[in-house]
Amino acid sequence: MQADLILGIQWGDEGKGRVVDAYAADYDIVARFGGGDNAGHSIVVGEQKLALHIVPSGALVETTELFIGGGTVVGLAGLVKELDQLESLGLDTRRVRISDRAQIVFPYHGALDRLSEAARGKDSLGTTGRGIGPAYGDRVARVGITFGQLRDVETALEHLRRNMQRYQPFWTDEVPAPNLDAMIEETRLLAARLQPLIVDGIAYLHGALQAGKRVLIEGAQGTMLDVVYGSYPYVTSSATIAGGACTGLGLGPRAIGRVIGIAKAYCTRVGSGPFPSELHDAIGERLRSQGREVGVTTGRPRRCGWFDLVAARYAVAVNGLTSLVLTKLDVLSGFAEIGVVVDYRLDGRSVGCAEMNNPRLEPVIEWFPGWSEEVGHIRRIADLPLAARNYIAMLEQRLGVPIEEVSVGPERSAAAR
Ligand code: GDP
Ligand code: IMO
Ligand code: MG
Repeated sequence: MQADLILGIQWGDEGKGRVVDAYAADYDIVARFGGGDNAGHSIVVGEQKLALHIVPSGALVETTELFIGGGTVVGLAGLVKELDQLESLGLDTRRVRISDRAQIVFPYHGALDRLSEAARGKDSLGTTGRGIGPAYGDRVARVGITFGQLRDVETALEHLRRNMQRYQPFWTDEVPAPNLDAMIEETRLLAARLQPLIVDGIAYLHGALQAGKRVLIEGAQGTMLDVVYGSYPYVTSSATIAGGACTGLGLGPRAIGRVIGIAKAYCTRVGSGPFPSELHDAIGERLRSQGREVGVTTGRPRRCGWFDLVAARYAVAVNGLTSLVLTKLDVLSGFAEIGVVVDYRLDGRSVGCAEMNNPRLEPVIEWFPGWSEEVGHIRRIADLPLAARNYIAMLEQRLGVPIEEVSVGPERSAAAR
């Protein structure tokens, strides 16, 4: 059985959570492959609203198992808090499994994240402050501690003590060393609670696929935040592209069937870094308020701009997309004209995403007719206003990928095919 993959193709917050939730009923397992609680995935079903940071977005579909893969970095306290939140909603969290290869985020990683941002001064990345970069840093420096290591907590705590010694010279008056004894105490307690969830991630997932279980893989962040192929260095610290699903879950490329890219009908970005289609005017403000563009994890207002075809074409290529879901089309209702960035220019030359960080880069905008009608009630693409259908057809044609679904509201059912 091949697994299907859903991932963001812009700068994150494309609506991956809502699409995964809506698709999850057709799958037995939803699996996260990377990132940590820097992600914020919101789901709306009727009156129920849920924001998930680390547990996969199939949580509201009670028949699915929820797997946190080896490519993730996970704070113990954050995971327990999220499990408690789900339990308080009456959801069974015995469905949650975490790979023994997943890396633990300790409080000292959050402190190192703040330290690193402070040292960058005005060039700060605008991270979520969740310790993501330092946790992945420990992994590649081969000093990180995995969930598997929690099976022998006292030895894992020895590693923790050694790591704290290693970072001893780093602390400052502004960012002092986190209390080691408190960290040790907390780790002992939380490790005991999480022990039953820890599985051999390879045996678990390959066993499931061999048994014919249907697996939906959920990406976090977005293609332009990929640590290698995003707008480096203004990126997160993990592989967010389709290849990251293979390394993050221990799957070969042939284990993946459909690769479904999620794109907003316009673009947003939170944090620092290049954003060629960004609007600094009243239109950007209008997208922000109509789209309620506020970060789920940090509460920061999201930067807004038009759809970026150059970045989207790049994402189609690096992910090998088989189809797209276009979200938040309803937010574009009422704009007389809709802009789309169709090219980047640098000193008169047409350039691609590799030049995105160049401050002289100029976006080329093409304009398309807008529509005034509300579309939130529409459930068939054929019933959308003509200008909206033309906008969708234009994106499909220029990206060379079919758009299998368009969402027209945050609610699970608000989608048209
Ligand atoms: P994710 O990180 O990709 O899962 O996306 P987020 O949940 O961070 O951000 C997407 C936001 O848009 C959430 O508040 C969703 O409830 C909301 N949303 C998703 N799809 C739609 C849609 O089609 N229309 C509107 N108006 N809101 C949507
Ligand atoms: P979801 O899964 C949007 C951004 C941060 C910052 C940069 C690095 O909800 O789409 P980090 O804390 O990862 O070191 O921050 O990446 N970022 C996101 N932006 N959505 C996300 O996740 C993000 N996760 C990280 O704002 O610019
Ligand atoms: Mg989000």
